[in-house]
Amino acid sequence: MILIKNIKELIQVEEGRLKVPGKEMAHLPVLKDAWLFIDGDRIIDFGTSEDNYELRIANYEKTTRQLTSSPTRQFANSPARQLKIIDATGKLVFPSFCDSHTHLVYAGSREIEYIDKIKGRSYEEIAKRGGGILNSAKRLHEASEEELTEQALSRLNEIKMLGTGAVEIKSGYGLSVEDELKMLRVIRRLKELSPLAIVATFLGAHAVPAEYKDRQEEFVDLVINEMIPQVAAEELADYIDVFCDRGFFTPGETDRMLLAGMKYGLRPKIHANELGYSGGIQVGVKYNALSVDHLEYTGDEEIKCLLGSETMPTILPGAAFFLGLQHAPVRKMMDAGLPVAMASDFNPGSSPSGNMQFILSLACINYRMLPEEAIHAVTINSAYAMGLSEDYGSIARGKKANLFITKPISSYQFMPYAYGSNKVETVILNGNIVTRNA
Ligand code: NIG
Ligand code: FE
Repeated sequence: MILIKNIKELIQVEEGRLKVPGKEMAHLPVLKDAWLFIDGDRIIDFGTSEDNYELRIANYEKTTRQLTSSPTRQFANSPARQLKIIDATGKLVFPSFCDSHTHLVYAGSREIEYIDKIKGRSYEEIAKRGGGILNSAKRLHEASEEELTEQALSRLNEIKMLGTGAVEIKSGYGLSVEDELKMLRVIRRLKELSPLAIVATFLGAHAVPAEYKDRQEEFVDLVINEMIPQVAAEELADYIDVFCDRGFFTPGETDRMLLAGMKYGLRPKIHANELGYSGGIQVGVKYNALSVDHLEYTGDEEIKCLLGSETMPTILPGAAFFLGLQHAPVRKMMDAGLPVAMASDFNPGSSPSGNMQFILSLACINYRMLPEEAIHAVTINSAYAMGLSEDYGSIARGKKANLFITKPISSYQFMPYAYGSNKVETVILNGNIVTRNA
């Protein structure tokens, strides 16, 4: 059991909301001078200095003791039942960030393309020259599952200490049946090894491999007829993704692949409208996608289509920053009443960072979101965008105890403001205090 007391500000305290839309995003529930009580892997209770935590914890213990069948004495004295008290004077407590879109299983890095980019080549030009996703696919093919697992674990460790507590990871650097399965098996292994909550997305249609050049339809058939059934047979994925965009996969091809995936229980969660008005948002909404991601090209028609749907519009500010893209019309979307989520897109090509604190800063400066709106985007709304908001994304009774304590800082606005430095001091995941290499 853990009691965190003297919390200067307890952020994103709420009960039972699965996502926060439009204008509501500007209201962030905060408790000042607060305490928080954790038992096992769950948040049990919280309150302010006006609420007597000793009484509340004693009552809780009494009830759980009555409920448990184990002998009372032994139960009460077992080490797990000892109360660890953390004094958070001057510090804030946040729910862990939820990062609903990453490609963090990859081999090596692509800083050579970075130089090309600096010299003025576009993402699409680099991809056409055999760089980009095809370059990562080649390296992934040569790497063993162990090597991939080790590299990905070190990235997971890094984002964990930056405050991320739940993350989605996509395949998509395989581009063949074997290598896609290899990637997804690595993600399954990461679920066992890492304390972070992880969901897996099958992204067979990330790019057309060189050997299928001019035979794109045949590659789509391979995804539908070979990849999806095998991924489903091994239960390797929670969601299905397609890079539906100009120069990659068309809405028609996307339609076919999503339909095929859904037959195997894979809900869509797709890349859309990053490079043009691709029709990706429409096809995503048509199949009740959990999220449509990127959205630099979102007009009135796309906003209308998203309104009333259950699809979370998800913005990836790191990719727009790194590639110098135009910014998605986030203010317009929120004004129209849409919720907005934000994720890192951690990948070697368009966003080689999984730092959600930096995403918060980009949200405020590049998208002119208020800190309150940005915090909603990287917690509860991004938890929704990976189907985890019943358990993650806010400080609520009964939710997973995935949260962090900051260094002494002045207010929650300081979080996005002081970009570039790590404001996270102590990380708690599943009710355990996490150290750097755990
Ligand atoms: O989300 N847009 C498509 N896929 C990734 C980039 C992957 C890569 O370049 O390696 C993205 O930006
Ligand atoms: Fe992506």
